[in-house]
Amino acid sequence: MKTLKASGVGAAINRVEGRLKVMGMAKYASEFPVENIVYAQGINSTIAKGEIISVDTSEAEKLDGVLAVITHKNSEKLKTFEEEMPELTTTSKAPVLQSPKVRYYGEFIGVVIAETFEQAQYAARLVKFEYKKDPEPTILFDESRSKAYKPKSHTDYLRGDMAAGLAEADETLDHTYSTPIEHHHPMELHAVIASWENAKVTAYASQQIVEDSIIAISDTFQIPKKDVRVISAYVGGGFGSKLNTERHVILAVMASKMLKRPVQMTVTRQQMFTNTGMRQHNEQRMQIGAKKDGSLTALSHDTLSHTSTYQEYQEPCGMMSKMLYKVPNNEIKYSLIPMNFQTPFAMRAPGEATGSFALESAMDEMAWKLKMDPVDFRIKNDTQIDLGAGKPFSSRLLTECLRIGADKFGWENRPKEPRAKQEGNWLIGYGMSAASRNAPYQETSAKVILELEDDKVYATIQMDATDIGTGSYTIIAQTASEYLGIPVEQVTVELGDSNFPITPGSGGSWGAASYCNGARAACESAIGKLKENKNISQDEDIVVAELLKQNQLNKFEAEGTAAPSEEFEKHSVFSFGANFSEVWVDKDTGMYRIKRMVSVGSAGKIINPKTAYGQMIGGLTMGAGMVLAEQTRIEPNFGNFITRSFADYHVPVNLDMANIDVIFLPEEDKIANKMGIKGIGELGITSVAASLANAIFNATGKRMRELPITPEKLIVAPLEPGVTA
Ligand code: MOS
Repeated sequence: MKTLKASGVGAAINRVEGRLKVMGMAKYASEFPVENIVYAQGINSTIAKGEIISVDTSEAEKLDGVLAVITHKNSEKLKTFEEEMPELTTTSKAPVLQSPKVRYYGEFIGVVIAETFEQAQYAARLVKFEYKKDPEPTILFDESRSKAYKPKSHTDYLRGDMAAGLAEADETLDHTYSTPIEHHHPMELHAVIASWENAKVTAYASQQIVEDSIIAISDTFQIPKKDVRVISAYVGGGFGSKLNTERHVILAVMASKMLKRPVQMTVTRQQMFTNTGMRQHNEQRMQIGAKKDGSLTALSHDTLSHTSTYQEYQEPCGMMSKMLYKVPNNEIKYSLIPMNFQTPFAMRAPGEATGSFALESAMDEMAWKLKMDPVDFRIKNDTQIDLGAGKPFSSRLLTECLRIGADKFGWENRPKEPRAKQEGNWLIGYGMSAASRNAPYQETSAKVILELEDDKVYATIQMDATDIGTGSYTIIAQTASEYLGIPVEQVTVELGDSNFPITPGSGGSWGAASYCNGARAACESAIGKLKENKNISQDEDIVVAELLKQNQLNKFEAEGTAAPSEEFEKHSVFSFGANFSEVWVDKDTGMYRIKRMVSVGSAGKIINPKTAYGQMIGGLTMGAGMVLAEQTRIEPNFGNFITRSFADYHVPVNLDMANIDVIFLPEEDKIANKMGIKGIGELGITSVAASLANAIFNATGKRMRELPITPEKLIVAPLEPGVTA
């Protein structure tokens, strides 16, 4: 098949859906025109723990336009959890309003449905709840440490003997790194339009994984999967918060069933702090031992975090510490405190984003102790074997990422000692980190419809895949263009409808590899069948228009499925990267500026350098946000969050960001999958925080082990022992 260099795989084309988006024609969940629609507004609890003893809906119900108020008193009976503390997953059911119990501040305890959005909003404020408050909710992490237990979802891991590894080390360290609660906050609010008709559900819902949303809805309502249709054509960001199906979706379906009308429910920006997931606060204790020559002898990573009182989620912070370096003695541990907050869930690079802050900060600290260059220290401990999994890597170009990044960044100009480079009031520091992210390719199906018109073939690809802003539409179109040998303009991509073939959805950096290979399989299947029908050899190079003509067909459809190979299973498949950054710190105020960032990624075949670059700068910005500002604060008396809007939950803006260079190493990982693609959605955020914190250390001699690194923390932090002021 000829490669169409202009628009096929590898071309930096513009987004195929870009025009629709800027014209306002790309329909997001709450924008579908549905007749006879009504509006739902959720009501949030105002205590952290206790029980509702009375509900007064009379005032709300008197209002014009109010159609119903649903609370635990009149809610439909839903399927609840069969076990204590089940794990929250992407398919978890989401029972709501099933009991008078309140388990955290902001939990949905009711919903008002009205003819207009404004009526529903106003009426929601008039519903009165009386509570019997439990005087001892668990809302303070520090005071709740004794409640920590061993989670069942991520079990502890040990290879070798930590004590022996530490004993044979020339240098050891033992430090704890802390990261705060963060919230995903995609631009598009969580939203749904649900209709229940003849025992069948249709939900236009902003979800990352259509198929898993169907499972969650059908399990919660105990109806067959085939009676649920989910449409998620455009998703305005998710970052993990839309992986699972949250309770607003269930509430809207429930209300539609009750009122026999389609119900639209949007989660407000404020409610997105309490009702659509969060990243939990993590405390990560790192112990490292190393020989004088830089070889690691021991590394342990012990994470303490929290879950809700009703469901378990453990962010696997120790993942990178298990596989990134050649260290014979390695221990990964987890514990969780059940607290009166919503169940935390996966947020962009769950495990790596926070885990890498601890690991790559600690590695920098050890390099400093050993008086070794931090880049050389990583390279010294590089490995082609994933010791954690006991498998070889499918491909691992970490050393190349580090060397090329160092060269591009000008690492040789790094001040060798902290505080050595100053300009006026600025202390200038260079920092770096290594990054890795699992590339979990999964089984994916797609359908292709070929149509011949005036000698030209037009193709439509259909899959239940989603585009969460990443560029799925574009890279799938490019794949079809490549494998059908037609220009991308002749390809239409239709996504996000459960009537289309099943994909794993968007999450965990598996989207691009899975989607493209699924689309490839469908195109190959179509061409294969057209050849077979006419006894044309599968090796013969013949254009698809000619194939259709020989088959005397104007239209032809085929489906295909791609799945991980045996070789894939025999390897550890990861993307790798290196981050370099330059930070200028004002020595009097602790204010600092990120001046430059260089990110090198080895992520297999890059389908579209432009959308890939977008993913990387998005990840780098989010990683910078972890350092600069992101933090959800808890009000210590009531257990509400104090940070309730973008006015107080800060994320970086353009002015906060640096000059960013992104380099992708040319690579095709054929073990990963036929097209050689690995993920980058989460690689971008991984280890950014450590790179910046390490640059801050190089600038100031202060080791910042708690995120975010705000000026007030930086200014009072002590110099590390051995640093000259
Ligand atoms: Mo991602 S946290 O799997 O959307």
